[in-house]
Amino acid sequence: MKLGVCYYPEQWPEEMWVDDARRMAELGITWVRIGEFAWSRIEPEPRRFDWSWLDRAVETLAAAGLRIILCTPTATPPKWLVDKHPDMLAGDAEGRTRGFGSRRHYCFSSQAYRGECARITEAVAGRYGGHPAVGAWQTDNEFGCHDTTISYSQNAAQQFRIWLAQRYQSVDALNRAWGAVFWSQEYRDFDEVLPPNLTVTEANPSHRLDYNRFASDEVASFNRLQVEIIRRHAPGRDVTHNFMGFYTEFDHFAVGRDLDLATWDSYPLGFLEQFWFPEADKLRYLRQGHPDISAFHHDLYRGVGRGRWGVMEQQPGPVNWARYNPAPLPGMVRSWTWEAFAHGAELVSYFRWRQAPFAQEQMHAGLNRPDNVLDHGGHEAAQVAREVGALGQLAGCTSARVALIFSYEADWQFGIQPHARGFRWLQLAFEMYSGLRRMGLDVDIVPPDADFSGYALVVAPSLPIIEAGTLAALTASGAVVLFGPRTGSRTRDGHIPANLPPGPLQDRLAVRVARVESLRPGAGPDVDVGPDRMSGRLWREMLETGLTPLATFTDGAAAWVVQARWHYLATWPDAALLDAVMARVVADAGLSKVQLDEGVRLRRRDDVQFAFNFAPETRRTPAPEGTVFLLGGPELPAAGLAAWRIQPQ
Ligand code: GAL
Repeated sequence: MKLGVCYYPEQWPEEMWVDDARRMAELGITWVRIGEFAWSRIEPEPRRFDWSWLDRAVETLAAAGLRIILCTPTATPPKWLVDKHPDMLAGDAEGRTRGFGSRRHYCFSSQAYRGECARITEAVAGRYGGHPAVGAWQTDNEFGCHDTTISYSQNAAQQFRIWLAQRYQSVDALNRAWGAVFWSQEYRDFDEVLPPNLTVTEANPSHRLDYNRFASDEVASFNRLQVEIIRRHAPGRDVTHNFMGFYTEFDHFAVGRDLDLATWDSYPLGFLEQFWFPEADKLRYLRQGHPDISAFHHDLYRGVGRGRWGVMEQQPGPVNWARYNPAPLPGMVRSWTWEAFAHGAELVSYFRWRQAPFAQEQMHAGLNRPDNVLDHGGHEAAQVAREVGALGQLAGCTSARVALIFSYEADWQFGIQPHARGFRWLQLAFEMYSGLRRMGLDVDIVPPDADFSGYALVVAPSLPIIEAGTLAALTASGAVVLFGPRTGSRTRDGHIPANLPPGPLQDRLAVRVARVESLRPGAGPDVDVGPDRMSGRLWREMLETGLTPLATFTDGAAAWVVQARWHYLATWPDAALLDAVMARVVADAGLSKVQLDEGVRLRRRDDVQFAFNFAPETRRTPAPEGTVFLLGGPELPAAGLAAWRIQPQ
């Protein structure tokens, strides 16, 4: 449980560095991340490297006893490099070139840019790979940020054709997979294929799905190129990448397999403001963040990092990039930090040390104000450091009893053909996760090809393309499984399965989706669970099944069925229906729910139970009478947290 900070020595007069480093160490910070945007200072002109300042920055931090996470600077190629390779720029969906003047102005498919990235990574890793203070490495910065995973450049088109030729071997196979006979879309040669943009109306969905897969593979290979170079020069050092929140355009599990640990950038208030949450939630949790936003990502990135993960950038105050940028409730920076630790984080690093008075992010808070006075976030970070010191280090998280299957491909599939406006896979997954968390359960978020043994309950929010391996692993686990709507609704090529949805799931669950409809908000479908009328939304499936339903639509047709511990839900459940479904599957799995006050969430790490209050009012922990608290007490003030041991050591 270490604290870190993101620092930009190149942005401050050198006279400040010694004092900055001293104050970081005094605050309880042990890791400092540097260098991710510093290419123009490292290599001011082609092949003229200026290491002097970076050497001094590294030595200054090291002399204060700080450990360094050094980054490759490839998220911000300098102007001269862009001018040298103008075709390295990405193309947007409207066919325009995305230009220089901010960041992430590159296309993953530019071979020239990959060459430059390999060169700068060799140079930086070659110089600092063996430095004793450089303990970890970060590749690039936030792959995909600012919509940069998918590019429609000439380079991307060319690499896509190569990718297609490898995948399909023959253009006839591609034509079959894409159903290209439809609207005379057939190709005679891979060279004829273009990216799926600029079409008159909807492009072929299988073409788009392959473009997503291709773009995802490009990110993974781009990252791997750097990782391999770093590993050669810095053996034994951890390599990570800082992923984003609510971002699904590439398969993070695939990138994670090449890393030692996953890290992510946690901006709870910005995410609440920018994503789908109802107005009421945006107001209620304005200064705390939705109770499940951070936790959802903590659990996801623990999965991406195969158990090892951290927060590379933690919001320390108002951000600059959301529609509105409120300040966190006093205590929230501390609470978010402890929440990450409770979910097993090795590191929580704040973005950034000091607010910059210039350029794009001058309105973004840091631990220090622009005048170098320690700000609210800084004081709360110092408090956490003292608390960790008093509590002592904890071992990591053991596996939860509940797993939620996270499928990037599912998100792409529904993004391509949502069929109902607002049918977002990610939101459905988040809501199911939330339903489990409201019951006080710890959840692991795992990929579709995970080993499910040891889980009592597995929730698949929806798996439109369900692989035989996933079904076999679920069967072998003996777990109770809940499948959400649209599971098994597509083949790998993106077609409706020959035996209709849920495709291969029919071998285990006697249901067939005869037809579906999508419904505008407010139009139901209503669902009866025993005597209680509840509601689904956006989506309804007509199931052919001989199973006795656990819930029905108002016309008596099955809305929710179970067969031998596997449940299937034929609509997107509203909160009440979701709670009813979760209560049942949790009970079937032999797990017990914890009665929690609204806004309270739990997480166990090692033998310590943590409770967090996201409500703006005081709440109570579910700790038994007589509990001795390590942190906090039975009452949880707004932004408060508590921790207590759940078994004697
Ligand atoms: C992240 C990014 C940082 C900084 C931060 C501001 O997305 O990695 O460089 O821009 O947001 O909140």
